[in-house]
Amino acid sequence: MKKLSVLGALTLFFISFLYAATAQSHNNSAPNMECLSCHDGDIQAGMVSIQGIPKNYKPGKVYTMSVVVKSNLESLGEIKGGFALEADKGTLVVKDKKNTQLIDGFLTHTQEGSHFRKWTFSWKAPEDKSDASISLMAVASNGDYSSQGDHVGTGSYTIKFGK
Ligand code: HEC
Repeated sequence: MKKLSVLGALTLFFISFLYAATAQSHNNSAPNMECLSCHDGDIQAGMVSIQGIPKNYKPGKVYTMSVVVKSNLESLGEIKGGFALEADKGTLVVKDKKNTQLIDGFLTHTQEGSHFRKWTFSWKAPEDKSDASISLMAVASNGDYSSQGDHVGTGSYTIKFGK
């Protein structure tokens, strides 16, 4: 009998450990452009923007800008949001190692970064002479550690070559 309850406790321990591990791994990052397929919240027009994004680029120049999520959705916990961003040209550069990271070509939040709704990054313009584009998807979360009831915003931006 005693053995059985020890086994039960161990099993429970492992189940909660696994649960915590998967939950954490997601707050850690979201390297995809599919937030909306799991986060069933409404898509909000005008929820995301990139502050300081240039209209035009000079080849090889490094630009620093910030992803900003504006939402009236209040977070009940410490997790306030997350994002993923990709550029079709040039190079994304991690500017804030604590709160952002690059995974599979996507710039996304870290665990610490999910406590915010604003993230700063850099982009090195291509040596190219054609338009570049940056795509962005972000979640404003309600902090309940689930993908329910969050808000999702998307944006796509063109940066032209030239002055
Ligand atoms: C494959 C499904 C899936 C995709 C795709 C997905 N999420 Fe999630 N997300 C979840 C689940 C499930 C949770 C809750 C458990 C967890 O945190 O791992 C979650 C939780 C979160 C949380 C914490 C929410 C809270 O209220 O605590 C944030 C922030 C978040 N996701 C951001 C994103 C962003 C940003 C994207 C897209 C760039 C994204 N997710 C794409 C399934 C997904």
